[in-house]
Amino acid sequence: MASNISYETYAQSADYITAQLGGFAPEIGIICGSGLGSLAETLEGDTAVIPYDAIPGFVRNTTAGHRGQLVFGTLSGRRVMCMQGRFHCYEGYTTQQVTFPVRVMHLLGIKTLIATNAAGGINPSYEIGDVVLIADHLSLPGIAGSNALIGPNLSEFGLRFPSISDLYTPRLRRVAAKVYLTNTHLRQERKLRVHEGIYAWCYGPCYESRAELRMLKALGADLVGMSTIPEVVVAKHCGMDVLAMTLVTNKCVSSREPDTIQAMAAELAGTPQKAIVEVFPNHEEVLLAAAARTKDMQEYIAKIVKDL
Ligand code: 6GU
Repeated sequence: MASNISYETYAQSADYITAQLGGFAPEIGIICGSGLGSLAETLEGDTAVIPYDAIPGFVRNTTAGHRGQLVFGTLSGRRVMCMQGRFHCYEGYTTQQVTFPVRVMHLLGIKTLIATNAAGGINPSYEIGDVVLIADHLSLPGIAGSNALIGPNLSEFGLRFPSISDLYTPRLRRVAAKVYLTNTHLRQERKLRVHEGIYAWCYGPCYESRAELRMLKALGADLVGMSTIPEVVVAKHCGMDVLAMTLVTNKCVSSREPDTIQAMAAELAGTPQKAIVEVFPNHEEVLLAAAARTKDMQEYIAKIVKDL
């Protein structure tokens, strides 16, 4: 679903925000994903808070676990803007609405985007509570006609046909890797595990069917989630450096559907099969897992920001 938002609409929004900031010029934008919104509460300095409702062009937020405001302040001595709460396509917003804040970040002078999210782990070596640096993505909606850059190209932001190879800035991934590998508190005391992997974007709001999960696995996806890809594509389009990281909040069940014919045959033969108990993803589980790692994610991101 595309919608046409004019350059002036983005500019008005940025002008409104600039007028609230009294000269504070953010350098780094952080999108706080599910359960990670409290990162914004750790900002220092004279933090400014602007509710999305107050900003021309912004849309409201409808998902539990997501708040709707921009928070400005310093983190590890760097000037940052946090989005406390993001927009999702499954809420019915267009990809242009979902990515609106990223273009506003660009107009505010932000050169680096850190996007966080919660997602399901497809890679069997991932555990709940692990962090994954996104190395690349599978944008199934993008391939199928729901790319955030569909519509007239606004050349003020970037090219009609941008390359998105190396969208996830290699230098930033190296910084994140080094912070992790050299931080004994996170690794040994907090037992944080960090991997690098491929994120598959699915529109949602349903979690994936078993057959869809088998497809994603076959395509090489390590993670599956409902966010982030529209925002990072738009960030890359306007030349921003991007670091994206996922908190694994549940392990995806990709076992085969029970075969009804075989099960019935076994029952009729008097040798019923044992029922297999499987855990399917649900939003409460996702929020709980995210909450359990919130502090570690905050510490990790604060240390990365310091070294950017
Ligand atoms: Cl299993 N799937 C999707 N699409 N998004 C998720 C998730 C799963 N777990 C957290 N977010």
